[in-house]
Amino acid sequence: MGKFIVKGPVKLKGEVNISGSKNAALPILFASLLIKEVIEIKNIPKLKDIDVVIKLFLHLGVKIKNSKSLIINASNLYNNFNFPKNLIKSIRASIWLVSPLLFRLKKINIFLPGGCSIGIRPVDLHIKYLQKLGANIYIKNNYIIGSIDKEFKGSHIIMKKSSVGATISIILAAIYAKNITIIDNAAREPEIKDLINFLNIMGANIKGAGTNKIIIKGVLQLRGGIYTIMDDRIETGTFLIAAAISRGNILCKNTNPKNLKIVLKKLKYSGAEIKTGINWCSINMNNKKPKAVNIITGPYPNFPTDMQPQFTLLNCIASGFSIVQETIFENRFLYIHELNKMGAKIFIKNNKAFCKGVSSLYSTKIKATDLRASISLVLAGCIATGITIIDNIEYIDRGYEDIEKKLISLGAKIKRLK
Ligand code: UD1
Repeated sequence: MGKFIVKGPVKLKGEVNISGSKNAALPILFASLLIKEVIEIKNIPKLKDIDVVIKLFLHLGVKIKNSKSLIINASNLYNNFNFPKNLIKSIRASIWLVSPLLFRLKKINIFLPGGCSIGIRPVDLHIKYLQKLGANIYIKNNYIIGSIDKEFKGSHIIMKKSSVGATISIILAAIYAKNITIIDNAAREPEIKDLINFLNIMGANIKGAGTNKIIIKGVLQLRGGIYTIMDDRIETGTFLIAAAISRGNILCKNTNPKNLKIVLKKLKYSGAEIKTGINWCSINMNNKKPKAVNIITGPYPNFPTDMQPQFTLLNCIASGFSIVQETIFENRFLYIHELNKMGAKIFIKNNKAFCKGVSSLYSTKIKATDLRASISLVLAGCIATGITIIDNIEYIDRGYEDIEKKLISLGAKIKRLK
């Protein structure tokens, strides 16, 4: 596993270009398996998770040209379920192979997906709702096994939890289904809206994007075309935190601040001066120490769980006391042990992090535990005095494009050791 050597403290300031969204790119890529014509997808971030999808696609015989954009031709798919286990297990998103392959190949047989270890992350809802849409599908010995007769059948699904992943599985199955599918209590995340925009441009008939009622009328055929992926709102939020904790100022370009309302509100509360335009937003701490903010994570438009570790870091060095409550994943506080090694004063009880702000963090040797935790530890290293060594840094490459380059351009002192 690689390491980052980070020298601090530094003030992070300057301009940064926000990359395409990982969580929009992944479902859109899997959706492209439903299309027999050529499609071109622009603004795909260069990330490890995307490389995994490309490998899975090559295994299925999908033709891919990977230059500035991704050009995908999934006109012919091999009936080949012998995916390398480590590939399937390395990303949560491999669950989105299920609906398209059931439609295209009429059967599925894949190892259970994995992803970051931030909770149990079952796939029961995906399975249950695909059964409702007519699939004969079940889990046996850690494999998802299933088939459909001819096609999916539309249904009215009232989701027990508004799961992002399960909403996407239903949409991907319902595109070509007989009759109408209605999803109540659907997830409203902007990335789902982006997926629906993509599918509608390619000929799908989906209404209700961005609301909790999505209505999908099955169509006979999707067509090819060109699509540009939305920006990564979590990357934007992460850079805003980088400025907030280092008392710096950063302008994030190519990003839609409308998708970050609650994050910007919390940053303003912490004392940041925030400015926004149609496709940019900026933060200036005016050299002030941030104020602690309370957070409760929840499905969009509530506070994103993917910004929870970054805000907990802010609270570590903020003035005052805070409570951060995680309601989506049951094990997303592993990194707190590492922050405490750096002098933070946080204790955890009942999935809440109680934090008393300290004046500064000190450098030591720490270990990344998952994607969003790893960036928070790197940012912690940027503001700590001395040299922080962060182990297991590969997680960061799953979700942050060119992260060292971008942070170094903002004034960070980072070196990667392989
Ligand atoms: C997606 C995002 C992830 C983000 C999360 C919540 C991607 C690739 N990942 O993950 O970055 O943190 O949304 O915004 O887009 N659940 C079940 N059964 C299921 C499915 C989910 O119990 O079948 C539970 C989960 O364990 C979790 C909650 O539902 O407690 C929400 O999970 P979900 O919204 O599905 O998250 P993901 O799609 O895994």
